[in-house]
Amino acid sequence: SSSRTFWVGGNWKMNGSVAAIKELTSTFNAGSSPSDVEVVIGAPFVYVHLLSESLRKDWAVAGENCYVKASGAYTGEISPEMLKDVGAKWVILGHSERRNILQESDHFTAEKCVKALEAGLKVVLCVGELLEEREAGTTQQVVERQLAAAVNVLKEQDWSNIVVAYEPVWAIGTGKVATPEQAQETHAAIREYLKTAVSPKVAEETRIVYGGSVNGSNCKDAAQKPDVDGFLVGGASLKPEFLDIIKATQ
Ligand code: G3P
Repeated sequence: SSSRTFWVGGNWKMNGSVAAIKELTSTFNAGSSPSDVEVVIGAPFVYVHLLSESLRKDWAVAGENCYVKASGAYTGEISPEMLKDVGAKWVILGHSERRNILQESDHFTAEKCVKALEAGLKVVLCVGELLEEREAGTTQQVVERQLAAAVNVLKEQDWSNIVVAYEPVWAIGTGKVATPEQAQETHAAIREYLKTAVSPKVAEETRIVYGGSVNGSNCKDAAQKPDVDGFLVGGASLKPEFLDIIKATQ
């Protein structure tokens, strides 16, 4: 439905172990992966190196967060440069769990985007509304506010290294997936926003992927929607089922 390359990411969140990663990568590495789908797996910092050494080379590895400095006295933080050094090509930023549990702001998230891109990482920028925001009818406002912080500090060419993940918070880890129509509606609105706030070219070319209770069976219908360019998968990315999700368009 478009010239955008379909993109599927796994986000393991704070899950995994050396043993589990060895097992899961051997399953993933033995599976088939469509050559026209881009696949990325995000792992906890301490496992990024192991994952990048054990994962098939046609898939890429992501960190799940990063800090805004390259090095220095920032105890407990991890720089984009360090992620790159251990093999990550991507970083997930602004996940709702960081925004809501760790209280990270739109501004801080946007600053991380700038620094990650400067370091040569690609960015998965997550946005999405809380249940009460959806019920109040403010979904679009919330998502635009989150995106605007990034739009304000990024250059037009930066967007070729960004994937936007729309993850309604009420659909994350709840089993309550957004309907394909709900996803399409917000994705189309995000694209419209990018058109006016950045440029028609960026709006046309940026992948907007959906996240929130995606699994091997509900992915097919959503993948048919014109503005759904892939998925960011939590729970199901820790299972062999992830191999079905990357084939959602087949
Ligand atoms: O980043 C992916 C995510 O938040 C969705 O999680 O477990 O609902 O697929 P899950």
